[in-house]
Amino acid sequence: MDEHTQDRVIIFDTTLRDGEQAPGCSMTLREKLRVASALRDLNVDVIEAGFAAASPGDFESVQAIAEEIKGPVICSLARCHPEDVARAAAAVKPAEKSRIHVFVATSEIHRNLKLQMAKEEIIRRAVESVQVAREHCDDVEFSAEDASRTEHAYLADVVQAVIEAGAGTINIPDTVGYTVPAEFAETFRYLKQNVKDINDVVLSVHCHDDLGMAVANSLAAVNAGARQVECTINGIGERAGNCSLEEMVMALKTRADFFKIGTNIDTTRLYPTSRLVSSITGMHVPRNKAIVGENAFAHEAGIHQHGMLKDASTYEIMKPEDVGLSRSNLVLGKHSGRHAFRERVAQLGFDLDDDELNRAFTEFKKLADRKKELFDGDLEAIIMNSGGTPAGPWTMDELQFSAGTGVSASATVRLSHTDGRMADETADGDGPVEAAFKALDCAAGFSMSLKNFEVRSVTVGEDAQGEVTVTVEYNDHNYRGHGISTDIVEAGALAYLEVINRISRRRNSGIDNSNSAAAKDAAVI
Ligand code: KIV
Ligand code: ZN
Repeated sequence: MDEHTQDRVIIFDTTLRDGEQAPGCSMTLREKLRVASALRDLNVDVIEAGFAAASPGDFESVQAIAEEIKGPVICSLARCHPEDVARAAAAVKPAEKSRIHVFVATSEIHRNLKLQMAKEEIIRRAVESVQVAREHCDDVEFSAEDASRTEHAYLADVVQAVIEAGAGTINIPDTVGYTVPAEFAETFRYLKQNVKDINDVVLSVHCHDDLGMAVANSLAAVNAGARQVECTINGIGERAGNCSLEEMVMALKTRADFFKIGTNIDTTRLYPTSRLVSSITGMHVPRNKAIVGENAFAHEAGIHQHGMLKDASTYEIMKPEDVGLSRSNLVLGKHSGRHAFRERVAQLGFDLDDDELNRAFTEFKKLADRKKELFDGDLEAIIMNSGGTPAGPWTMDELQFSAGTGVSASATVRLSHTDGRMADETADGDGPVEAAFKALDCAAGFSMSLKNFEVRSVTVGEDAQGEVTVTVEYNDHNYRGHGISTDIVEAGALAYLEVINRISRRRNSGIDNSNSAAAKDAAVI
């Protein structure tokens, strides 16, 4: 155990593993790399990059993150099976610092109904897997899945056995989000008192939010001796999600007087990282979400505003700047130059390379021609939508549509392909969005089935931009696309075109239209 671990809480981010497991949250390799570099900039200690044995795609992304992201420990999850451990070890091998995280369920319910294994057999598997993992890697974590519903005495036996086998971090998950703070603190105290070698390892906590207590339970565990917290950006994860990283970190920071322990997180990166994850996954952050919601620092009531004007500390326990929110509301206009744009982008916490900045600036100029006032939210949406996705092969040169009450809608699109092809198509539909999607299907030459269409206003006002996220099914796979525009039909068409481009690129690279493992990989691409 590293001596520094006891005077701060280690932040273990599992956005790319437990978070990505949530329905609708799958990410492409490129998106995972973007999130992983944002997590590095946030200064998380450990990135759980995936579950290498789950699929070839998972293996590839853990390996790519291990190769590219320097700084944090890069970790892969593995079941207590030798093949899983070997896959995890191979995937994290290129990392500067690597970890293998093995887990097996320990509760009576899981032992009897899921694993059909006796207590001793589970301990034997756990010990063997930790030993095998240690042959590959010095840093091994063990998780007792469903620990919060496991008998304390048995849990203590499992923990002592895996410590003896070489695990350096022991994670105690509340897998089903069942425990409550006082009870969970008791579990940690019990382990502290009853596991002989407990002080030789880092005790970790991993909570789910089924009863809305993931953060409270994790804080209770820290208070009772846990020194690693497993969490995700925006609290995304299985079912109701995981412990939210931003809430955990800001609770420890804001109530340092109570907890007397902090983290290494650069809290000014919290807001941009939250926006990045929400834009990539399409999981919008509720307006009233603590720390990173739109309203988290908005004061509406007159009496509050009055207090705020006298002294912000009357109603504000954290400063918006501390979480990376520096709203100036009205920002730039059509006469703003590249320099002012670059500065504002940096103030908003984004670190763009020259190509990304140029792409975003071109989009900004186009938008400034259509919209009187540009807000920070507009800039964020532009950056999120122009950053990651490589252009093409198709570009939409023209979109026209007509619609009215009692008449069917019609849309015409003109697309150009990087190989010089042009496609002009017109289609009818129940509304202009459906007509545009049908015309795009004809232009691209394949037809997809729309599963979900979500639209959200990026800022306020009549000329606010709409952000559309579509989920589409094609060849048994779900694909997701985003588009923004002041016109929601156009935003929808751009989102749909992004999907067409994803499919076209996969077809060109020979991945799609096949039963290859990579093609079968992701739930949402
Ligand atoms: O919730 C859980 O128990 C997990 C483990 C695999 C750590 O995600
Ligand atoms: Zn979990």
